Amino acid sequence: FRSRARMSRLDKDAYIDYALLDTKIQQVKERLKRPLTFSEKILYGHLDNVEEADIRRGDSYLKLRPARIACQDATAQMALIQFMSAGLDSVKVPTTIHCDHLIVAKDGYATDLAKATADNEEVYKFLESVCKRYGAGFWKPGAGIIHQIVLENYAYPGGLMIGTDSHTPNAGGLGMAAIGVGGADAVDVMSGLAWELKTPKVIGVNLTGKLSEWASPKDVILRLAGELTVKGATGSIIEYFGEGVKSLSCTGMATITNMGAETGATTSMFPFTEAMGAYLEATGRSDIREASSSWRHLLRADEGAEYDRVINIDLSSLEPFINGPSTPDLAIPLTEFKQAVAKSDWDNRVSAGLIGSCTNSSFEDISRVAHLAKQAMAAGLKPQAPLYLSPGSEATRATLQDSGVLEVFEEAGAKLLSNACGPCCGSWDRQEMPKGQNNSIVTSYNRNFTGRLDSNPATKIFLASPETVIAKTFAGNLDFNPATDSIQTAAGEFRFNPPPQVDLPINGYQEADDGYVAPPPQRSNVHVDISPTSNRIQRLKPFASWNGQDYKDLTVLIKVSGKCTTDHITPAGPWFRYRGHLENISNNTLIGAVNAYNQKVNMVQNVFTGQIAGVPETARDYKQRGQQWVVIAEHNYGEGSSREHAALQPRFLNGVAIIAKSFARIHESNLKKQGMLPLTFSDPSVYDRIAASDRIDLLGLAELASGKPITMAVKPSNGTAWRTELLHTLNEEQIGYFKAGSALNLMALNDAS
Ligand code: F3S
Repeated sequence: FRSRARMSRLDKDAYIDYALLDTKIQQVKERLKRPLTFSEKILYGHLDNVEEADIRRGDSYLKLRPARIACQDATAQMALIQFMSAGLDSVKVPTTIHCDHLIVAKDGYATDLAKATADNEEVYKFLESVCKRYGAGFWKPGAGIIHQIVLENYAYPGGLMIGTDSHTPNAGGLGMAAIGVGGADAVDVMSGLAWELKTPKVIGVNLTGKLSEWASPKDVILRLAGELTVKGATGSIIEYFGEGVKSLSCTGMATITNMGAETGATTSMFPFTEAMGAYLEATGRSDIREASSSWRHLLRADEGAEYDRVINIDLSSLEPFINGPSTPDLAIPLTEFKQAVAKSDWDNRVSAGLIGSCTNSSFEDISRVAHLAKQAMAAGLKPQAPLYLSPGSEATRATLQDSGVLEVFEEAGAKLLSNACGPCCGSWDRQEMPKGQNNSIVTSYNRNFTGRLDSNPATKIFLASPETVIAKTFAGNLDFNPATDSIQTAAGEFRFNPPPQVDLPINGYQEADDGYVAPPPQRSNVHVDISPTSNRIQRLKPFASWNGQDYKDLTVLIKVSGKCTTDHITPAGPWFRYRGHLENISNNTLIGAVNAYNQKVNMVQNVFTGQIAGVPETARDYKQRGQQWVVIAEHNYGEGSSREHAALQPRFLNGVAIIAKSFARIHESNLKKQGMLPLTFSDPSVYDRIAASDRIDLLGLAELASGKPITMAVKPSNGTAWRTELLHTLNEEQIGYFKAGSALNLMALNDAS
């Protein structure tokens, strides 16, 4: 067997070692005496301590050794600022930084890129110099979206990676266990520490049949998101298996694993298939194809492996879905969508069609869409709304251009955006739609929280496959169904034919390595410059350690009603510019969260002055008074992006605990890392009893222990005090973070001792 292959064309000294993976898997199997699912093999095959690891799904914690790390520019700034404070000479695990979030979509590819390069010069220079100094790879703005670049260059079957972006699971389409984490977790791994993860449960998705007509890989995950909901897979890995897997392309599988993030899943993975081999070949990695083919028995579930839950999906009968608005799990089959539109207050005119994002920006996606656009244009039609296209990477863009695909969009009058996140992360300076105007957009993206794309709370965002998006944009109506409806033209009725299967580019992907900057051989003299007067980058000061006392007389900064994603806690869009500056970005803390008392956003009452003011202003006032505070929240608090700012900011402004009905995994872990207490009600109905003016004590902190509840004493301003129990998932190590003030503080303490 070929047991070693270079991890990527761009890493000089990093190798994939399948023989070692095999040894570790065998050791675990001997101990557990049972067959393993595919994701179990890959996770346990990367254990730091195979001999003594405690492996209980949904229960124990694993200490893992990821093989690589990827960070995007919006989260990398804070992660690298933290890494620098660890005082090491180089990153201990192959790491890459990708500039994709800060490019604002407005006028199109070249203009937007030039403007972003000028506007963010300080940030890009900072990131590039840190990469050069500490031995990480740097991908320049315009090179592509992090997950597409990872898929094209770094992902490989059987690997384990972490990324500071919640759609890191995209690499699961190439058989990798790729997990989204907060920056503080990435810093641990960069620093050479093992990474801790609660042993995930495994949800098996059995695919049978073959996609046909209008159904696409995106529809698999849109349908599954409807079934699992935004928190149904929390704490689990979604693992696909069954005959149907063989019929899917590698980038199609990546679409499915990418958007698994919307179900709360830790990650999603496909076992090794021929399509993965072909993709590796097309992207210049025949050595990995050869090695993974010869170790394919490792790269699938063992016979008889058991899942915690199995969901069956018959691809042959799967129909297209459209999910939204406002939440990605509101899945409506296209055949029922007309009715849903008729019953709603959604504007039935499509105001924009957007194709791209890390979920759907592959050569295959865009080629299939071009096929449909060509059909419509041949019938004399034009898009009825602005059409935006963003290829996933420069390699994909150049390949599409080479294959003549981009010409089709030019002819259709589409706006070609840079190879970046753009509107998907709120980096969209949308010109044609006034804020506050009710309108409907259809996108091939993955998220549709209110205000996510254009910062307009009145925009309704509908998620669909790229094929459905293009058909609706040409028709101009939201409720158009390409499978059953036709469009009136001067020559008669036009009806789309379903797009054909598109294979990989005949000559493989174009190489586009000029977007990559490798670290120099001599790094010690590289200077990393942070100006003390910068309003973009700021060195971090360590948070204060816990003073050993119970928290007393805490105020409730805000009692949040309904969904509270990281976009509500720390919105993106214009705020991206402050992602490296904790003090400045804290001015957006919780401005999108709805106050349960007045159902308004960014309007809370200051308990000292009685004044109604914004959430950040009120928090700053409390901080100035030395007043500590909590947030009260509902289910799945912190769902969505992995941004650790959502934990850092409340901590910076004197928050000490978030008390919720439940948490999203990454955010809960981020809170722990920053020394905040993520606490849940043992009785969720207690949420209703808490009032804005209540004072709260958190008692028994000196005895804080894994699995042991703490007591919350609630003191109403006029009424009898009452008590309740709060739960937490802190383990002993994480309790150490709390006591030290943060995980970084603990690392520094351990270093010093
Ligand atoms: Fe970027 Fe949107 Fe993906 S923000 S990383 S394209 S989810």
